[in-house]
Amino acid sequence: MALSPLLQFLLLLLLLEVPAVARASPLDPSPEGAASCKAGDLCLKAPLKDPHIPLVNVSLYYESLCPGCRGFLVRELFPTWLMVMEILNVTLVPYGNAQERNVSGKWEFTCQHGERECQLNKVEACLLDMLEANVAFLTVVCLEELDDMEKNLKPCLELYAPKMSPDTIMECATGEHGTQLMHINAQLTDSLQPPHEYVPWVVVNGKPLKDLSQLLSLVCQLYEGEKPDVCPFLASSHREVCLK
Ligand SMILES: *[C@@H]1O[C@H](CO)[C@@H](O)[C@H](O)[C@H]1NC(C)=O
Ligand SMILES: *[C@@H]1O[C@H](CO)[C@@H](O)[C@H](O)[C@H]1NC(C)=O
Ligand SMILES: *[C@@H]1O[C@H](CO)[C@@H](O)[C@H](O)[C@H]1NC(C)=O
Repeated sequence: MALSPLLQFLLLLLLLEVPAVARASPLDPSPEGAASCKAGDLCLKAPLKDPHIPLVNVSLYYESLCPGCRGFLVRELFPTWLMVMEILNVTLVPYGNAQERNVSGKWEFTCQHGERECQLNKVEACLLDMLEANVAFLTVVCLEELDDMEKNLKPCLELYAPKMSPDTIMECATGEHGTQLMHINAQLTDSLQPPHEYVPWVVVNGKPLKDLSQLLSLVCQLYEGEKPDVCPFLASSHREVCLK
């Protein structure tokens, strides 16, 4: 996947600074966590602008192997998150254009890009279920930006969640829990109002976002508090979608 220079820079920054992130953990609500976040470290623990002002909800309905989904996640949502994470509430729903059937009391899934995609959707659903939200998001982005996702589960976890074993995630993904999580995602996706027409399908504060290049400017516009410094910021380029 061709990455923009900005994104390459951001990724490099993350790769360089990950050990610092792991120490000055976004999970660590203690003051020491914030204090150990020194100059030069990339600190994911952005202070809330104003706790009384609601975050902008951004939900991404996607499937793991759809090129347009990967492009949106890696080139739009991830940079937007890096820039304005303190005003964002991101929810990832891996399922997309999949379908489910009740086969004698067991849910079975059919995915647009085949059985491998169904399996990877479950891996990502398990990551999102078992890791803290920011760490899960980074780990999913890490998988989606690389080509061999199965092989990269281990290095991506080592980078962002060194205490989580890939075996635990795979047990979840291949077992009953993965099936349950995928059934929940099927229900979330199938109950979308209006229904999704393609993936990536992005919902911002309950409304579908049609022009995917407008994510950052819309988030900036919708946030009712004092805007982060990077707002306003304009971006536009060609997007791909995966039709149903
Ligand atoms: C973030 O979004 C999830 C659902 O997508 C919701 O359950 C949760 O309440 C939201 N959190 C905030 C702080 O808005
Ligand atoms: C799934 O199918 C089984 C029988 O094949 C049925 O007993 C069960 O109620 C069905 N579950 C749902 C949620 O439709
Ligand atoms: C975000 O989602 C949560 C949970 O659904 C909701 O309570 C909150 O009002 C939403 N925020 C906005 C700004 O719509």
